[in-house]
Amino acid sequence: MTVAVELVDVHKRYPGGSVALDGLSLSVEDGRVLVLLGTSGSGKTTALKTLNRLVEPDAGSVVVLGRRLESWDPIELRRRTGYVIQEAGLIPHFTVERNVGLVPELMGWPPARRAARSHELLALVGLDPGRFASLPPAQLSGGERQRVGIARALAADPPLLLMDEPFGALDPLTRRRLQDEFRALQSRLGKTVLLVTHDVPEAFRLGDEVAVMDRGRVLQRGTPAQLRESPHPGFVADFIAAALP
Ligand SMILES: Nc1ncnc2c1ncn2[C@@H]1O[C@H](COP(=O)(O)OP(=O)(O)OP(=O)(O)O)[C@@H](O)[C@H]1O
Ligand SMILES: [Mg+2]
Repeated sequence: MTVAVELVDVHKRYPGGSVALDGLSLSVEDGRVLVLLGTSGSGKTTALKTLNRLVEPDAGSVVVLGRRLESWDPIELRRRTGYVIQEAGLIPHFTVERNVGLVPELMGWPPARRAARSHELLALVGLDPGRFASLPPAQLSGGERQRVGIARALAADPPLLLMDEPFGALDPLTRRRLQDEFRALQSRLGKTVLLVTHDVPEAFRLGDEVAVMDRGRVLQRGTPAQLRESPHPGFVADFIAAALP
């Protein structure tokens, strides 16, 4: 198995003093889904942003898609990694179609190819292009916007997806449906995925493996079954017990 992402002993302190990553180490194999599970403030978003150079680590080694982080041109790296942020982060004055085609637009694809790709992706995430392509994001529901966010991240067919609470802020039924669709999509597309959540059932449902984070480092990593059956005593066991019946 090829390793798609590897962080070794990564540290990050923000100006102002808060330590976000405190010796974070983790790796994700090609085509696998690793879920980063942790409480608010544990450094999950910072860990993702380190991988597409939105945040520069202070120390440690990071390899993304076979190359050391420092050797990646940030623009090139962002084209090769789809980034899904909470609340989708769509540009309000662009149509859904243009939002989905943002990276292809930056890459200079001709308009007809961009439009075709946007429509193909909207259909892939279950949104009828005929109905949604020309709408502004404000006319979509939260769940529809999150689908658009996922379509946008897939636009340039990146091998690596970074997903930050992609199904947060949804009602339980819609959330469950999007989770199921994500799994079906993932088994077809075979992307490498690093997905962040604070929701234990979601982590167990979506992750091939789950890494439990606290205060900027991983406390335990394993398959959902391993974490359910033998969580490390203390924070990991308490966190999982609090969320599961
Ligand atoms: N731009 C920033 N400047 C200063 N401190 C920051 C910044 N971004 C994050 N932090 C701090 O770093 C720590 C980790 O933040 P991070 O956003 O990575 O946590 P998180 O696990 O994603 O939390 P949440 O689940 O609430 O999104 C927190 O203490 C946070 O206050
Ligand atoms: Mg976060």
